[in-house]
Amino acid sequence: MYALLFRHVLSRLDPESAHHLAMRVIRVLGTRPLTPVVRGVTAPAPELRTEALGLVFDSPFGVAAGFDKDARGAAGLWALGFGHVEVGTVTAIAQDGNPRPRLFRLIPDRAVVNRMGFNNRGAAAAADRLRALRRRRSRAVLGVNIGKSRVVDVADATADYVRSATLLAPLADYLVVNVSSPNTPGLRGLQAVETLRPLLEAVRDAAGSTPLLVKIAPDLPDDEVEAVARLAVDVGLAGLIATNTTISREGLRTDAAAVEAAGAGGLSGAPLRARSLEVLRLVRAVVPPEFCVISVGGVETAADVRARLDAGADLVQGYTAFLYRGPLWARGINRGLAAALRSGARRR
Ligand code: FNR
Repeated sequence: MYALLFRHVLSRLDPESAHHLAMRVIRVLGTRPLTPVVRGVTAPAPELRTEALGLVFDSPFGVAAGFDKDARGAAGLWALGFGHVEVGTVTAIAQDGNPRPRLFRLIPDRAVVNRMGFNNRGAAAAADRLRALRRRRSRAVLGVNIGKSRVVDVADATADYVRSATLLAPLADYLVVNVSSPNTPGLRGLQAVETLRPLLEAVRDAAGSTPLLVKIAPDLPDDEVEAVARLAVDVGLAGLIATNTTISREGLRTDAAAVEAAGAGGLSGAPLRARSLEVLRLVRAVVPPEFCVISVGGVETAADVRARLDAGADLVQGYTAFLYRGPLWARGINRGLAAALRSGARRR
């Protein structure tokens, strides 16, 4: 059904307009009379309950950052069966992001390229929305992902992140320092260990008791992935998220001219799967068992999620396949995970 809708309607819309349309529907699903009805169809099986970061998740599978930039869809996304929603990226100062078009489908690769550039209404507005969600006693587990405001110089990034952390940590179940999006000039340079240490220490102090994680790029060389993971442990972070989108365009099936026409930005979806899994393994090998690793990148099926959990992820996220697979995606993944658990238990 969704495949038909995608082929004949959604894929003809500009991708950002399709996203806004989907978000409208999701927001309606998050309103009082509908949420329990939808949830009745999508609620994850009890055996998927997962503990991580000192929190309890209904499912290990959640929505990655970028889908719900301003905390408007969290209740609806929870209703659709996602175990958590990572809101953001939120910046201290509201910003429009890059000019449109800035989101492109690479359909033969089940991928997208985006250069959104952290379009969001700023940390104060996000704080208001999160407060409203808390007042409604929404049961969604809410991560909040923070990034650098574009107008702030990279040299002053720490104070900018601290501003967002101070406003948002008290309202977040966990907080994420995003230093890995390719669409803010200079941002990914903050992943260099000498620069990252003081940044993470300052945000850690501002975050107080809220678990803090750092999100990294798949394009870091392996030794830098390991160095950042060791740093995150050393600084006392609760975890790490791997990975953000890639700037690589290797191995794509989409016509080279179409890839070229999309232009600069981060690539996500199926082509990211192998590197994302590789980065997860690199990280898991150097961090202690109690350190939380969230795996994201190219996950499409329950088997993909299972593979990440088996490789040591505590939680798994996805975004791009949601655009291709539609509103029942999380439900399908949760059902597949539960069925695998049951058949594993029968075999044992
Ligand atoms: C993203 N992603 C992202 N990540 C982040 O930390 N902050 C952000 O604001 C965004 N924005 C964003 C917009 C769009 C349109 C996409 C497709 C992605 C990256 C996302 O959270 C995730 O790390 C990657 O997309 C890889 O996962 P998938 O999409 O392959 O499942």
